[in-house]
Amino acid sequence: MAGDVKRFTRMLLECNSNDKLCVLREYQTEVIVVPVLLVGFFVIVLTVILWLHCRGLRAKQEQSSSSGHQVNDKNHEESSSTENHYIQLTETSVEDLLNSASLTLKELEIPREKLLPGTLQLIKHGCYGSIYRAQLETGSPGKTRTVVLKALEELASPQKVKDFLGRIKFHQNLGHHENLVELVGCCVNQLPLYMIMEDVSLGDLLTFLWTCRKDVVTMDGIPCDLTERQVYEVGQQVAAALAYLEQKKLFHGDVAARNVLLHHNFTAKLCSLGLAYEAHTYGANSVTQIVPVKWQAPERLLKKPFSIKADIWSFGILLYEMITLGAPPYPEVPPSDILSYLQRQNIMRQPSSCQKAMYNIMKSCWQWNATKRPSPADLIWSLQTAIKTSNGCAVLQVPELVVPELYADVAGVDVYSLVREYTIL
Ligand SMILES: *[C@@H]1O[C@H](CO)[C@@H](O)[C@H](O)[C@H]1NC(C)=O
Ligand SMILES: *[C@@H]1O[C@H](CO)[C@@H](O)[C@H](O)[C@H]1NC(C)=O
Repeated sequence: MAGDVKRFTRMLLECNSNDKLCVLREYQTEVIVVPVLLVGFFVIVLTVILWLHCRGLRAKQEQSSSSGHQVNDKNHEESSSTENHYIQLTETSVEDLLNSASLTLKELEIPREKLLPGTLQLIKHGCYGSIYRAQLETGSPGKTRTVVLKALEELASPQKVKDFLGRIKFHQNLGHHENLVELVGCCVNQLPLYMIMEDVSLGDLLTFLWTCRKDVVTMDGIPCDLTERQVYEVGQQVAAALAYLEQKKLFHGDVAARNVLLHHNFTAKLCSLGLAYEAHTYGANSVTQIVPVKWQAPERLLKKPFSIKADIWSFGILLYEMITLGAPPYPEVPPSDILSYLQRQNIMRQPSSCQKAMYNIMKSCWQWNATKRPSPADLIWSLQTAIKTSNGCAVLQVPELVVPELYADVAGVDVYSLVREYTIL
């Protein structure tokens, strides 16, 4: 084809086949036509671009001249709509939080009317609201069960509401363990919010220990006697709860007799998981909850990273509390001096009511070096071994009664954090 075209061009130009000048003339068409075509094409494209550009400009000018006010209004609308959005985030978000919580915590929600009115009894003021005991209607008509309510009062900030809902969610995710206080449900459709926990019949272990000092029978006719064997039994259950927390990559952070609840049948339940929640949610360094210093491991007093092994240290103090029927730890050391006391390699001496085997366990918990302390599993094993030779007959006795205010002073705890019972209607 190309050959035919060439020949045809030569025929038109009337050239000889070996005319050199004719070769030039032959290419003349290409030399001239191709650039002209290119330039033409370029000019057309440029014109189209310019035309489109001008049309765009004209359209803009028309819009701004004919409807200048509208543009302003539109801008205003935009800014006010972002304002609305902002207001929603800050002011109405309690509502938003509750709306979304009603969905996420749906299976835990208990209708408020099932909490029998007039049965609310204030137990104490917690760190984020009051704690009540109340009667909850169960499925069967006429039957109720006693529950503990942790309340978040009205007028709570969105941040507080979010935190409170987070605590409920945390408890839900924690799952069930027979030695951890159980979440029964919640009321989160409106304020005040309630986190409903199981009630544990004998109440907190510290108060129980103090009651054991008196020669009394508890309200429910249960003799308040405690033997060394029972101390081990309660200890084993708390250690089992710690093993469970360890398995969940958590720690408790405030193991103490005041945070253990007891059932009639001596089932022990570790409660007050607020610090565990805070550490899990905001990081161990952002924990705001105050823990009395005399229960804390040295690494915590020194604000160093800590683990479940810090709970093991506190567990040693818990054993001491039980065997002394609720004596304050380090009675001769002011709370403010505790760190320097421990730094001088002091630990508590063996209480007179405590046998060697139990004291050895306490000492293993009070090793300065956290890695040398037993794990929860090691601890359960030591307790199981020691319980075999423990005394299940002799009732522990301490003649002196405890004055809560003096105790609070010596132990370095807030007296209001100790259980107080009030009745409100
Ligand atoms: C102890 O009592 C509680 C409440 O009545 C019950 O849930 C639990 O199963 C009992 N535990 C044992 C070991 O009997
Ligand atoms: C703590 O004990 C472990 C194991 O015995 C040891 O490897 C570590 O060096 C000790 N840490 C300190 C600070 O003494």
